[in-house]
Amino acid sequence: MSESESTRHPFLQGLSRHRGTPPTVVVIFGASGDLTARKLIPAVYNLGFDNLLPADFFLVGYGRKPIPDDEFREIATQAIREFSRRELNPDVWRHIAANTSYVAGAYDDSAAFTRLAAHIAAIEQKLGRDVQVLFYVSTPPSVFAPIITHLGSSGLASRHLGQPHHSKIIIEKPFGRDLESARGLNHTIASVFQEHQVYRIDHYLGKETVQGLLVQRFANAIFEPLWNRNYIDHVQITVAEEVGVGTRGGYYEQSGALRDMIQNHTMQLLALTAMEPPVSFDAEAVRDEKVKVLKAIQPLDPAPGGDTARAQYASGMMGGKQVRGYLEEEGISPESATETYAAIRLCINNWRWQGVPFYLRSGKCMARRVSEIAIQFKRPPGTIFSESAHINLAPNTLAFQIQPDEGLGLIFNGKVPGLATRTQPVKMNFRYSTTFGSDTPEAYERLVLDAMTGDGTLFIRGDETEASWQLYTPVLEAWTAAGRKGMDAYAAGSWGPASSDALLAADHHNWRQP
Ligand code: NDP
Ligand code: BG6
Repeated sequence: MSESESTRHPFLQGLSRHRGTPPTVVVIFGASGDLTARKLIPAVYNLGFDNLLPADFFLVGYGRKPIPDDEFREIATQAIREFSRRELNPDVWRHIAANTSYVAGAYDDSAAFTRLAAHIAAIEQKLGRDVQVLFYVSTPPSVFAPIITHLGSSGLASRHLGQPHHSKIIIEKPFGRDLESARGLNHTIASVFQEHQVYRIDHYLGKETVQGLLVQRFANAIFEPLWNRNYIDHVQITVAEEVGVGTRGGYYEQSGALRDMIQNHTMQLLALTAMEPPVSFDAEAVRDEKVKVLKAIQPLDPAPGGDTARAQYASGMMGGKQVRGYLEEEGISPESATETYAAIRLCINNWRWQGVPFYLRSGKCMARRVSEIAIQFKRPPGTIFSESAHINLAPNTLAFQIQPDEGLGLIFNGKVPGLATRTQPVKMNFRYSTTFGSDTPEAYERLVLDAMTGDGTLFIRGDETEASWQLYTPVLEAWTAAGRKGMDAYAAGSWGPASSDALLAADHHNWRQP
């Protein structure tokens, strides 16, 4: 790659692009929360460790609870000790901690936002230079709108607008709970920010292997000719978790697998798998292609026996221990109609994918933690090998393993050595850890850095969220109307409910056991 090519777009430059990032203040709303401790502070620390923060970097926590600066620094230090992928290096952290402070205030209090603006102005004055401010909204969604509105009325949203160091905002998920609320949130955002200032996060897009998917698809000549309905039989996207709802029952009851995982994470995986090659890795070019594919998806039939399956985990054995069912979990109503597992069959009505089903599934308390995209190819035509006990021809499968044990595997048929002609499906495996080692940045590191440097490629545009909600809102409405009627169950520690198997069996397919 020539020098000019490598500097043309940040996506092509890996993580070595902080040079030129202006002095930056990251303001975290909800700074005393779980996400801040588990992901955001460790991400900032690791960016500092890798020397990827601008030389003048400031971290400001914001929340209702009054926390003195010293105490916030101590909380942050503990968070790094507990959750960072690297051990705390005192020299690295001292430098960041020296520029770490806290502002207390409610999320709908104009006076508090005026104080925050003064706090940022004081940093700027002390530095003697303008700073860009990246607001990270890491609160429950109920306060997204008041925060955005007050960023507008306080003038914080429009600082240095028209210049490269304008204000930016990262908004956490969930982005709305249906089409109407997502449109409402987009409307509130648009009344305060310009779209290029807005970074809607889906942390799956920050995962190394998800970015790897783009490279594997578009930097290799062998895949593209096969990437269509002529060769691909169907696609399976699995995001299976071993964890149950744990202590998040309050949140999860209002959410469920469709809102929590399918509508966002699995749909992003689908969009990257199915989109047309973008004209460049420019954020708009990539997002244009994702939107096109989302809009080409045929409306779903939410009726039982249609395109969906939903279920709750019942008690079962996991890791040798008896695990209780969802309805027995803390904070969960015994009458709950919230699904912990969802499976969907999608058809994309365009030239490339007509007639190729895409199956998505996601669930909690499943047999194994695994996220993968499996491309199953058509069987070879009229085989010259006679079907006999010795011949075991499997369809070729290309499986992108997102996590854990990240990599790419290809299943093909090989000959078993020996004088007889015996075949057996064999696997060719590429593993990131074997080839590159296991020191991979966390998704939030990549995403915070991208937002700081102004690269929106791995963030979701407003029309993308709406296209996805457009598809799923009728399903959610039908499920709500049906209540528990049609809700299946699966044993904790299993691969999901019978209704999900039936969804594929109707098309003469089976779920893979990744
Ligand atoms: P928390 O429940 O920990 O809340 C974050 C902070 O927001 C709290 O410390 C509190 O700070 C403030 N807060 C809490 N409840 C309310 C309320 N009802 N009204 C106003 N303020 C409130 O959330 P998380 O940190 O877990 O999540 C933050 C965001 O990130 C959410 O949008 C979540 O969906 C998303 N997310 C979280 C993940 C996780 O693993 N935690 C994973 C992916 C996304 P204070 O009282 O000081 O104001
Ligand atoms: C979050 C969901 O978005 O993703 C959680 O709210 C889920 O319920 C988590 O556990 C899974 O993320 P990961 O990166 O662990 O696969």
